[in-house]
Amino acid sequence: MTGEPAIQVDALRKRFGDVVALDGLDLVAPEGQVLALLGPNGAGKTTLVRALATLLVPDGGRARVLGIDVLADPLRVRREIGLAGQFAAVDEILTGRENLEMVGMLYHLGRAESVRRAREVLERFELTDAADRRASTYSGGMRRRLDLAATLVGQPRVLFLDEPTSGLDPRSRAQLWDMVRELRREGTTILLTTQYLEEADRLAQLIAVIDQGRIVAEGSAAELKERVGRDRLVVRLADAGRMEDARVALSPLADEAPLAAPGDIRLSLPMTGPELPAEVVRALDRAGLGIVGLEIRTPTLDDVFFALTGRHVEREAEQPQEVTA
Ligand SMILES: Nc1ncnc2c1ncn2[C@@H]1O[C@H](COP(=O)(O)OP(=O)(O)OP(=O)(O)O)[C@@H](O)[C@H]1O
Ligand SMILES: [Mg+2]
Repeated sequence: MTGEPAIQVDALRKRFGDVVALDGLDLVAPEGQVLALLGPNGAGKTTLVRALATLLVPDGGRARVLGIDVLADPLRVRREIGLAGQFAAVDEILTGRENLEMVGMLYHLGRAESVRRAREVLERFELTDAADRRASTYSGGMRRRLDLAATLVGQPRVLFLDEPTSGLDPRSRAQLWDMVRELRREGTTILLTTQYLEEADRLAQLIAVIDQGRIVAEGSAAELKERVGRDRLVVRLADAGRMEDARVALSPLADEAPLAAPGDIRLSLPMTGPELPAEVVRALDRAGLGIVGLEIRTPTLDDVFFALTGRHVEREAEQPQEVTA
């Protein structure tokens, strides 16, 4: 431990032509934690990661990693960090194992240590069976894993993962999440970018919401959700014609009026407590109303974003919305 924050960014600016990618961004992350940078397409996530990883020169402001200035001493920064970019970067002609051994040599680990570390990370990412095949024969998910494996060869103290789970199937995604947790237990500081509140929620102690090159909110998942509002219970009725009866039957259960979108068969109520779903089912049953579905909807990135900025996330970044109520 240095006593310094793992990452400290002050008033960082970067412009590409007319586009302001970083607009005086400030951010501090303590050592040994997972920080999620949550934001929609074009928010500036990759630009920030690239600036911290010394791959891009900012126009103004300051950034330090473990107290080392990224502009003044990029080589020292590079020795301390690992980076998995948004798009997997692997050498197609080499095998998985050769890719990793090459990274070890680039980190000056020496031949024997590079071989040993390559074997270790191949095992860790379940790539041992495919280790001696050319990377050109790997599936997208395997490439992604190989790319992540490569970031760990040098045992970095600070790891940058730019949308690490995009393109992974659910099982690989869960494995990656486990790995992030394990690395954190070993003391690695991790900054990961994501478009999914759920991912930030599961992994990160600290979440920073980024929009148009600025941090618009920071806190734990619980703190951010607090600002967004509660989970909602969504009830899908069997009979669209009896919406008004349902509304009347459910009104006493909620501390605000049940909401329904016009022409919809769904009603939603704020989740006031764990007993609410059972109470809703009983109340509708007493009123002779059938239900075909019941679900608890937790805030999405779009909800967080709307609450913080008054704007919606661009549609292509979002999963389909369940209910508008
Ligand atoms: N090399 C570049 N040249 C021109 N514009 C760029 C360049 N890199 C980024 N930008 C612009 O800067 C803004 C921020 O881009 P950035 O890649 O940091 O966003 P992001 O948050 O990583 O988005 P995504 O979720 O789509 O990866 C965008 O408007 C983008 O078009
Ligand atoms: Mg990006």
